[in-house]
Amino acid sequence: MIKVGVIGFGTVGQGVVESLVQLERGLRKEVTLEMLLVTNRRKHEHSEQYALVTDDWETFAARYYDVVFEAAGGIEPVYDYVRFFLKKGVPVVTANKKLVAERGEELERLAAENDTYLCYEAAVAGGIPILNAIKGTLATTSFTSVAGILNGTTNYILTGMIEQNRPFQDMLEEAQAKGYAEADPTDDIEGYDAWYKIRILARLCFGIWPNRDDISRSGLHDVLDWHVELGQSLGLTLKLDGRASVKNNTIIGSVAPAFFTNDHPFSTVYGVTNAVVLEGKAIERLLFTGPGAGKEATANSMVEDYLFHERYKGERQPMLIKEKEQNRIANVLVMV
Ligand code: HSE
Repeated sequence: MIKVGVIGFGTVGQGVVESLVQLERGLRKEVTLEMLLVTNRRKHEHSEQYALVTDDWETFAARYYDVVFEAAGGIEPVYDYVRFFLKKGVPVVTANKKLVAERGEELERLAAENDTYLCYEAAVAGGIPILNAIKGTLATTSFTSVAGILNGTTNYILTGMIEQNRPFQDMLEEAQAKGYAEADPTDDIEGYDAWYKIRILARLCFGIWPNRDDISRSGLHDVLDWHVELGQSLGLTLKLDGRASVKNNTIIGSVAPAFFTNDHPFSTVYGVTNAVVLEGKAIERLLFTGPGAGKEATANSMVEDYLFHERYKGERQPMLIKEKEQNRIANVLVMV
């Protein structure tokens, strides 16, 4: 029997709970939901799971779990909770891009020291299985660049503005109602969310964490209606673009609004859809598109992420191959 703990019971946490049957099918083992940790238990009194809901960390931490799904978001206090479980050797599956982008390096080290893992497929591009593609079937592939439309909320807003001439604020409210936007939508609008995601993608593609200052960020703050309209009249589509590549042995990147010509694959990525393009000598250009946010897509990613990592358990080679390659390159460069 697999005992599951869930941190956070918002849109994504609810999706995870609803997907436990899928997890059971994938593991071919009975799965039980042991406990849910929330910030305010009373808010969930109408939930079917109410009896399993606690807002007391000590109560939650005292239970045994085979896996913990983290869908609360933010850094504090979740960072301490994730550390606690990794130190105990419990795998943690998270959708928390901010936590991974800001503390991932340390948390991954902690996980490895305790013979467990932190996995975070759902943190980047929601329903697109991009991280496990990079770690798995593309584990030894060399990349020259990675780029993406990585924020569903801003893409949803821009699509409505362009296709339906709708005002920014209307589209934002709709994205919030659909559960796409962050609790504080500033993270979406100002490009922080996309910044976290491109940082994570760069780490996986190039084997090391980029320096914070080497990926610049600007969001939709300065985008005005007439920018969008002018782009349209010139046959250009405005998107919030994230990208990273290696230059002079350093990962550099950016998040910024950018115009794409109509023959560029990003120009036809509409609504909450995300897209990721990987480029490399052997692969030329690989394009992945799919849902970037939403309850089902994100929960599905979390369940598949856990199943993927359980299959690789004990080997953990996907990440290591790229790290080894990176070290080898670093050594060669030092010697030269
Ligand atoms: N707020 C995020 C987005 C959710 O709009 O893409 C998925 O990470």
